[in-house]
Amino acid sequence: MTKAAEFYELIGEMDGFLKKPQPKAVEKLWKRASEMILLCDKHYYKNDSPLVPDVDYDKMVGKLEKIEALYPELKKNSPTQKVSGEASEKFQKAEHRTPMISLSNTYNAEEIKAFHEKILNFLDWPLDKKIEYLAEPKLDGLAIEVIYEKGKLTRALTRGDGTVGEDVTRNILTIKNIPHTLKTKSPPKLFEVRGEILMFKEDFAQLNAQQEADGEMVFANPRNAAAGSLRQLDSSITAQRPLQAFFYGVGVIEGLDKKPQTHAEMEKLFSQWNLPVNDRAEVCESVEEVIKYYHAMEKSRPKLLYDIDGIVVKVNSLPLQTTLGTIARSPRWAAAAKFQPEQATTVVEKIDVQVGRTGALTPVAMMTPVKVGGVVVRNATLHNQDEIDRKDVREGDTVVIQRAGDVIPEIVNVIFEKRPKNSKAFKIPAKCPACGSVAVKPEGEAVTRCESIFCVARLKESLKHFVSRRAMNVEKLGDKLIDQLVDLDLVKSFSDIYSLDQAALEKMPRQGEKSIQNLLESIEKSKSSTLARALFGMGIRFVGEQTAKILAKHFGTLENFLEASEEDLLNAEEVGEKVAKSILGQIKKAEFKKELRNLVKLGVNLNESSRASESKNSSTALAGLSFVITGTLPGISRDDAKDLIELNGGDVISAVSKKTSFLLCGDSPGSKLDKAQSLGVKVIDFSELQKMIGKKS
Ligand code: IVH
Repeated sequence: MTKAAEFYELIGEMDGFLKKPQPKAVEKLWKRASEMILLCDKHYYKNDSPLVPDVDYDKMVGKLEKIEALYPELKKNSPTQKVSGEASEKFQKAEHRTPMISLSNTYNAEEIKAFHEKILNFLDWPLDKKIEYLAEPKLDGLAIEVIYEKGKLTRALTRGDGTVGEDVTRNILTIKNIPHTLKTKSPPKLFEVRGEILMFKEDFAQLNAQQEADGEMVFANPRNAAAGSLRQLDSSITAQRPLQAFFYGVGVIEGLDKKPQTHAEMEKLFSQWNLPVNDRAEVCESVEEVIKYYHAMEKSRPKLLYDIDGIVVKVNSLPLQTTLGTIARSPRWAAAAKFQPEQATTVVEKIDVQVGRTGALTPVAMMTPVKVGGVVVRNATLHNQDEIDRKDVREGDTVVIQRAGDVIPEIVNVIFEKRPKNSKAFKIPAKCPACGSVAVKPEGEAVTRCESIFCVARLKESLKHFVSRRAMNVEKLGDKLIDQLVDLDLVKSFSDIYSLDQAALEKMPRQGEKSIQNLLESIEKSKSSTLARALFGMGIRFVGEQTAKILAKHFGTLENFLEASEEDLLNAEEVGEKVAKSILGQIKKAEFKKELRNLVKLGVNLNESSRASESKNSSTALAGLSFVITGTLPGISRDDAKDLIELNGGDVISAVSKKTSFLLCGDSPGSKLDKAQSLGVKVIDFSELQKMIGKKS
């Protein structure tokens, strides 16, 4: 039985026990539950890869607390009395001056009310007395403490076990929205600010797509991606990851002249000092308002740029917070109010193994369609064999699914009680399901690959990538057509696309005169391409769009690139050894060179300068300027707007900083707009952009 299966079995037993307590059995059950909670903590905090969903973990802790209420002597060494987590040996450790405790959880309006009434009880106040609260999103990232001495950032620690954290100062210094110096003339002598590090959903999806293309590990959700990115020994890796911070609390503060009186004022002070704070925090006059906020935030949840798993309710008055103080592992003055997760249950009808363009064999669960968070989900990637083994997903299983980062569906866990009797563990086949060649899983790697360069499935996927919008952009050549062209043996390589003619295309079923004409035209149009697009399209491992652009700019011509030595490659910006080796591996291959030169022979333009200087649409009007795009633009996709800016010499970056020249803002902008406004970055709309490049709107 897997550990996850054991977890659910144990929860069942605890339920049974609570219905009919048997004193003789309690000690054993308590021990198993404590050990299971510690194991979950290890998966969550140390491996950045949770064993079970948070709600289920919370359920087990809740049940253990109930058991301990019946047998208080068990509390002494219980995980319910400690803050979870543990500092890893990977990092230097350091003690927090005041422990980083956690929050008690509530799950609905009634429990929020009960939290409020407990406070009134403690204070001996009448039950109808109002208390002012600050309500804010409960950010689903990882907790951090950043220490400023006389306004300078000197140290940053993870929560660790609450008492001792990991020193991640070097990594924190690479996060763009964390100031190295506080913006104030009279900084406190010592200031420990606490907050959350997270990754925006959009950035997470992009990072995972890149990780997958590079054959690297993909992250289960934005929280894991943030934790995995922050807890890197090499801070240059952290620097490449799009991390964000929000601050919401204080550990120690010494030497501040005028102390704020409320939590809201305190967060305002953070913001004045240039520390990012969440813009959705709201002061609520009463517990009823808090409950309204809870429901409203649950509704807004899918629209937010980042994952939240509930709200945090804090007594707003700081003196009152001090009066209320702390019990066991959480403060009396604050509580989390968690949301019901956006999950659903369905059945895995079949596990399909798909072949990607790098030859990676990816198992995909094909499920009975089910609605999750408003979207119908049919399949979910199982990533690789390790992931299948860890979750023990089998054909016929009933599973709980959710949309990670609200975008990608994932299987959270199997409901083992519902497993059919004769089910078998799933193994990725030893042969490529498309071409039958031997599939290889190198030692220490997670991915199994078909290594045959003749594999039809690989060829199809490679071609689909080659003609895609950001590569050669052959508009009329869709996935189905590619499949047909390959099946009919009309296309065996990238360059074959450019040899297609009327006679060849007439062999295809269901292709009329007009569509053949359109297809030939779009192939012709794509010939005015660039070296960067072709290099990206060829799908060299570790050469994403950005790297392809850098290479094209650095080498200028195809021949310079094909003749490059390792040293030449390393001289290109941002190209490290791993990337250089992968490129060298390709350009040494005769067939790779031939393929690129064939493209040129067939009339494809592979000079980098061609597009910018020959195209009527290009200019240098935006040279030296950097842009961030947010919201929905009128009549143009963000990708196209990005192309337009780049074509005119500008740069498009993902996060707003003081150095950003402009924020290009459309409808329903995200928090980037607030950020830009707070940093004084100029905000423009699409028509202003068009004016800047000399086009009338
Ligand atoms: S305040 C005394 N505010 O939730 C603890 N915490 O379960 C004060 N969290 O470790 C924490 N968003 O990592 C606070 N707006 C928010 C939060 C927040 C997320 C996390 C934090 C903490 C955990 C508590």
